[in-house]
Amino acid sequence: MLILNNVSKLINGNKILKNVSLNINEGEIVGLIGKSGSGKSTILRSIAGLSGIDSGEIIYKDNVISSNKDFVVKNEISSEIGMVFQHFNLFNHWNVLENVYKTLVIVKKISKQEAIEKAKKSLESVGLAGFEERSLSNLSGGQKQRVAIARTLAMDNKVILFDEATSALDPESSKEIMALMRNLKDEFKVTMIIVSHELSFIRDVCNKVYFMESGEIVESGSASELFSNPKNARTKEFLVDYII
Ligand SMILES: Nc1ncnc2c1ncn2[C@@H]1O[C@H](COP(=O)(O)OP(=O)(O)OP(=O)(O)O)[C@@H](O)[C@H]1O
Ligand SMILES: [Mg+2]
Repeated sequence: MLILNNVSKLINGNKILKNVSLNINEGEIVGLIGKSGSGKSTILRSIAGLSGIDSGEIIYKDNVISSNKDFVVKNEISSEIGMVFQHFNLFNHWNVLENVYKTLVIVKKISKQEAIEKAKKSLESVGLAGFEERSLSNLSGGQKQRVAIARTLAMDNKVILFDEATSALDPESSKEIMALMRNLKDEFKVTMIIVSHELSFIRDVCNKVYFMESGEIVESGSASELFSNPKNARTKEFLVDYII
C-alpha cells in the first residue's frame, strides 16, 4: 500500500536519509525506532508530503507521490495520509470543533454543515463528546492530542503517521493516548506508522518494526522477532533493556 524505494535526502549537504526502503501493507501497524537524530521524523515528514526527497520514490496505492524536491504530489490520494505530532499542531485561536471541521471544509471542500457533523462524530469516537465549544487553552495535553487524532479521523485518513504522539504528555495521558491508538487499529482499520521511544508500546502494538541509525534502516522484522532476537549488533545494543 505504501512503499519507499531507496529514498535519500540531503539537508545542508548531509545525507539525512540513506537509501531507505519500507514496504507497508494495508492495515499494518508499523513501528519506526532509533536514537534521536536517526531520521525518523524526516521519513514521516517525507511520506506526509511536508518535505521533498532527493532521490528514490514514495509510492502510495500505486501512485508515485514523491520522487524529488520538485515532485511532491498533493491530491486526493496523497491527502489520505495524515500525521499526528508531538506538539499537536492545532490552531489555538479556534475551539475544539473548529480545529476538526475547518480543515475538512478547506481540504475536502465539503459544506460547513457536513463538516460539522463529521467532526462531531470523530470527537465522539475519541471520547470528546461535549467538548466541542471548549477553547484549547482549557484542555490537557492528552485532550489536545485527542483533538488532533479526531481531526485525522474526520479527514478519513487511511494512513496515520504518529511522530512521538505521547512524548509531550504526562504518564497517565500518555497511556490514554496509547489505548486510543490501539482502538484505532481495531475500530477504524487505519494503517499506522508509529515513531516512539516507548519501546514496550511498539513491541506490543506493532506488526512490523524498522530500526534505524544515522539515516539508514539497519534491521526490520516482526515486532516479536526484532525484540526477542535482534540480529544486528547495533539493534541489540539499542534494545538491550527490552529484549525478552
Ligand atoms: N531542517 C533541518 N535542518 C538541518 N538539519 C536537520 C533538519 N531537519 C533534520 N535535520 C537533521 O537530520 C537528522 C535527522 O533528524 P530527525 O528529526 O529526522 O531525527 P529523529 O530520528 O526524528 O530524532 P528524534 O528522535 O530526536 O525526534 C538530524 O541529524 C537532524 O539534526
Ligand atoms: Mg523526531
